[in-house]
Amino acid sequence: MRRELRKVTGAEQVGPYTLLRVKRGGLDVGVPGQFFMLEAPGRLLPRPMSVCLVAAGELAFLIDPIGPGTRALCALERGEELHVLGPLGNGFDLDVERPLLVGGGIGIAPLPFLSARLSHGRLDSPPAILGFRSDWHAEAASLVPNAEVCVEPTYVTELLPDDPGDLLACGPEPMLSALRARVPDAQLAWEAPMACGYGACYGCAVEIDGELKRLCVEGPVLRAA
Ligand SMILES: Cc1cc2nc3c(=O)[nH]c(=O)nc-3n(C[C@H](O)[C@H](O)[C@H](O)COP(=O)(O)OP(=O)(O)OC[C@H]3O[C@@H](n4cnc5c(N)ncnc54)[C@H](O)[C@@H]3O)c2cc1C
Ligand code: FES
Repeated sequence: MRRELRKVTGAEQVGPYTLLRVKRGGLDVGVPGQFFMLEAPGRLLPRPMSVCLVAAGELAFLIDPIGPGTRALCALERGEELHVLGPLGNGFDLDVERPLLVGGGIGIAPLPFLSARLSHGRLDSPPAILGFRSDWHAEAASLVPNAEVCVEPTYVTELLPDDPGDLLACGPEPMLSALRARVPDAQLAWEAPMACGYGACYGCAVEIDGELKRLCVEGPVLRAA
């Protein structure tokens, strides 16, 4: 884990989201599902963001501008700099035989990187099921290969096969709770507001098995059961 100043190499609109590309340099990108704390200009606290894409010399974050921190990150332009800290937390276990990726809304952010890593040594990209609120949001599905896409009022759970195999998912809490009930060994990436990202502030404490645990250290990826 390192805090480093990184140059923005590009920022593209993908539906309502921004794909923020930063120079990778010697940065360890970690495993899919891990995250970085991004320091938005003018904001006191950094914001957690999943690694979305890793390309030669570059890594990218898909950002939903829902508040002041994310809007400041989305306003960054090529050539500007920001501090990044990571990789942090526990990512997905990639030792899976029949992966099925499931994402909802901005929860698809870690799936392009996950799909790329799981494609190594396989003929095809793993299948994915993605759900969005509108056709505009669904433009982000272009980042995930081999994906079946649904838009509300259809939900991803309606497209889930009877035997989903090794399910790896990220998305809004109701979606994760529904998947958890159906697939007890699913790997689910959860969210909580995070101030530090490395276990120091307890801002992300959630109850797991009757105990308060820090999601930034124990997660964000947890087994459903
Ligand atoms: C491990 C992890 C990975 C993430 N990856 C991404 C990503 O790849 N792309 C992306 O766009 N977002 C991601 N997020 C969510 C993102 O960090 C928050 O949306 C962001 O911090 C909000 O900051 P803000 O200043 O824009 O809005 P704020 O004003 O801080 O928040 C706006 C609203 O959202 C609520 N909120 C803020 N953070 C969270 C949260 N983590 N969980 C639930 N509610 C929250 C607030 O209570 C408030 O109501 C991730 C979160 C975590 C924990
Ligand atoms: S965000 Fe500080 S302990 Fe998890």
